[in-house]
Amino acid sequence: MRTNCFFYRKKKYSIDPNGVITRKSPSNIALIKYWGKHNKKIQIPLNSSISYSLEGVYTVTRLIYHLKERKKRNPSIKIFFSGKEKTSFLPKIFEFFHRISFYCSYLLDFNFIIETYNTFPHSSGIASSASSMSALALCIMEIEKKLVSSLKEDFFLKKASFLARLGSGSACRSIYPGLVVWGHHKSIKGSNNFYAIPYPYKVHPIFTKMVDTILIIDEKPKKILSSKGHQLMNIHPYAKERFKCANKNMNHLISILKVGDLQEFGELIEHEALTLHAMIMTSRPYFLWMKPNTLNVLYSVWNFRIQSKKNIYFTLDAGANVHLLYPIEEKKSILKWIYSDLISFCTKIIESFCY
Ligand code: DP6
Repeated sequence: MRTNCFFYRKKKYSIDPNGVITRKSPSNIALIKYWGKHNKKIQIPLNSSISYSLEGVYTVTRLIYHLKERKKRNPSIKIFFSGKEKTSFLPKIFEFFHRISFYCSYLLDFNFIIETYNTFPHSSGIASSASSMSALALCIMEIEKKLVSSLKEDFFLKKASFLARLGSGSACRSIYPGLVVWGHHKSIKGSNNFYAIPYPYKVHPIFTKMVDTILIIDEKPKKILSSKGHQLMNIHPYAKERFKCANKNMNHLISILKVGDLQEFGELIEHEALTLHAMIMTSRPYFLWMKPNTLNVLYSVWNFRIQSKKNIYFTLDAGANVHLLYPIEEKKSILKWIYSDLISFCTKIIESFCY
């Protein structure tokens, strides 16, 4: 695939020297997990992944820009998170700007202040880098739109996804609502490693109205960041089998989504979640993200499912928290059970929709 189309080529442009852009972007929850990337800094995944974007779980970013008097030096960037200056975020942001300035040369002409907040705890296993990097990429594309008046919506989103990927892999999927695919898969037309695409095939109505109730088990930032875990996949003894399995699971999911088989869906997403955690538990060095209360929730879900025959399934991210997915029709009774039987295992419950 050629990515030349993403270069910004104009030499001269006119823009108000000072401006503010605000964009919001959701987190997402992967059904088939992205875990492992090529060992270079270009964010190419080792398997394709698919996620739901999450309504109500998002980052809002305000990008304030000032045109510099002397151009072509690195931009100065300040970042504020929930109103407080966060110098600890700067290395990641500078790295991101460095990677994307290749495609957005105009960035070097500005100084920036980034003000951002999440509707959920950051670094807790809810993909905060996905929503924050995608929100920032959307803000940057808003600048590009001011410079190129003919810029089409389709290109705007594609390039936003392309840029977001360079900040954090899973972020490229947050650009679109609903089911979103990233990474080349031979059965998914248009899928590629450079940007995400909306899932292009028929989806049974049951999968267009799913609830995601997120149980926060541990709000503390993770000790092991996912970037480290990805790296470890390059030397993981089971990596090859994992990538084969992800590939097979994607084929299976395509048919599940078409026919609307909830039980198969549940089995597949739980297997994916446990495989992700199995990979991290068996890497060198090895880690354990689950907490005792993560296991308490998983066992409770399995027991409840047997007793109630309800369609409720879990998936996990890179952390201790649990996402419970179920059809909207079952929301009332399932939420009642969650608030009575699972509340003691969590510090917080976040209600969201896969939209
Ligand atoms: C477990 O996208 O956070 O959430 O590309 O290094 O920023 P980087 O990793 P990141 O990895 C997320 C992995 C995951 C699964 C997924 O969302 O597909």
